[in-house]
Amino acid sequence: LTSGRILAIETSCDDTCAAVIDGGEVRSNVISSQAASHARYGGVVPEVASRHHLELINPVVEAALAQAGTELGDVEAVAVTRGPGLIGALLVGLATAKSLAAGARKSLIGVDHLHGHVAANFLAPEPLDPPFVCLIASGGHTLLAGVREHGGFDTLGETLDDAAGEALDKGARLLGLSYPGGPAIERLAEDGDPHAFELPVAMARHPGLDFSFSGLKTALLYAVRGLGDGELESRRADLAASYQAAVVEQLVAKLARALAAGEWNAVALGGGVAANGLLRERVAALCAERELELKLVSPELCTDNAAMIASASRFVEAAEFPDYLGWDVAA
Ligand code: KG4
Ligand code: ZN
Repeated sequence: LTSGRILAIETSCDDTCAAVIDGGEVRSNVISSQAASHARYGGVVPEVASRHHLELINPVVEAALAQAGTELGDVEAVAVTRGPGLIGALLVGLATAKSLAAGARKSLIGVDHLHGHVAANFLAPEPLDPPFVCLIASGGHTLLAGVREHGGFDTLGETLDDAAGEALDKGARLLGLSYPGGPAIERLAEDGDPHAFELPVAMARHPGLDFSFSGLKTALLYAVRGLGDGELESRRADLAASYQAAVVEQLVAKLARALAAGEWNAVALGGGVAANGLLRERVAALCAERELELKLVSPELCTDNAAMIASASRFVEAAEFPDYLGWDVAA
């Protein structure tokens, strides 16, 4: 396993990311967000994402090396996200990582994107060691990871339809808000009443640890349709607050259920939705009540980034040149 300096690349969705770590210390963590390019479409357009990655990846890698004060020749290995994600987007990162590693005769480490979100918690300062439960909620994924070792995790439950962030993005669109929807809904919700509208929390239909958000989205659609044009404007904040509360309630309820048996003593959050203030507050209250340790990494380590991929790669076997040249993405 690799314990030295690692250059990592992450391009699974719409952020072009490169980072350098030394052991568990982050030396640089460069993230070039394409959110502005996708905003007018209300969501990520795969084809647009791939082309942006192509333009951005080389400058982003150079910035990551420069900010870390290092060069490709001085890294022990290159790490890269192989999946899951958008195929075209992943391909740009993988092709870049293979070329860099091969050119410098470095080893290459293929990383699972979700293992990366889990491994964000293994970075300094105050790394969290397994066992713990990690709630990962982003635009592409929503799952409960049971982490018993650094090298992997068990999926305790996951979404059966939309991801939590996707639900927020689609909900924001229904409310006429900008993309990404999560932060827009959170801002508007500050002026609203979370109890104003009764929206389903999807507990009854899905009694296990899996999530479902599509019914909630439909309920919001009907609530919006039920209001007149003039009325929507005056109730928008109440709708945002009620919708955000319903999304957060489901995340917290399933997390609480995963913790109910008392097997776990620590909790972590990951993914873009983990930046949500209400979710953080509610999970903190849950952990305080059950006397569990709570790990909240910084927002840059919650959303997609390459430092988390580098972190995970420390616990995955590296492939030597030229064994990785035939690797394909694992979308
Ligand atoms: O992890 P991420 O940056 O990218 C992936 O989807 O993998 O997550 C982006 C998602 C978007 O759906 C966005 O609306 C949501 O995270 N998000 C938030 C907040 N900030 C970002 N959701 C709720 N509250 C926030 N403050
Ligand atoms: Zn992600």
